[in-house]
Amino acid sequence: MDHRDPETAATVIDLHSHVLVGIDDGPTEVAAALALLRALVDDGVERVCATPHVTPEYPTSVDRRDQALEALREAARSEVLPITVEQGGELDLAYAASWSDEELDAFTLAGGRALLIEFPWGGAWPLALAPTCRALRLRGYLPIVAHPERSRAVQAAPERIDELVVCGAVIQLTAGSLTGRFGSSARSSAETLIRTRRAHVVASDAHDAVSRPPDLTAARGHAPGWLFEAGADVLAGVAPRIPRW
Ligand SMILES: [Fe+2]
Repeated sequence: MDHRDPETAATVIDLHSHVLVGIDDGPTEVAAALALLRALVDDGVERVCATPHVTPEYPTSVDRRDQALEALREAARSEVLPITVEQGGELDLAYAASWSDEELDAFTLAGGRALLIEFPWGGAWPLALAPTCRALRLRGYLPIVAHPERSRAVQAAPERIDELVVCGAVIQLTAGSLTGRFGSSARSSAETLIRTRRAHVVASDAHDAVSRPPDLTAARGHAPGWLFEAGADVLAGVAPRIPRW
């Protein structure tokens, strides 16, 4: 389903997905990964960043990620799926704060300057998040904060997001939060972040085609349309303009 005006539309990019086989809590078989790619195509996505967790629980190495990425690209080519799979990672905050440029570069979205960063959603607000986003900006990266609407700390105090926005972070909501897949607190938090202009892009964070599907089409009625198409501008418009000294 294509929701865009063909005269003006940029490519629709999904910045956050767990589509690689056998890397994290995404698909365990190629058929399931291909089903997820088909679901993304049905939702109008033309490029998807494969962002496996890179955390102590899922210590994804660059080599394993690259092998899984190439295998999925080959499978998608043989099925003639009209979608491009890009490199990426969903980085643990502590890694984003401490890694070298060389280590971070291996996990940038589509090989550009943007980094997707996750933090625990069940615990206290991570005091290191804003300083880390600020430091990454000064190093020439664009930090994208994954689904803060799922954080209990943000649900209780959405103004916590402001310190991230002022230091140049991009705020990514997950489509399933808008549809209520993650409960009423995440849904109402996502609505608040949109209403108060603290959200910049919606992504799928899809893990498969069945229990954690992309939800992008279903979410469209719950948020302004531009939030679903902002991924291309984040990667091609905002990120390359950040000075890198
Ligand atoms: Fe994710």
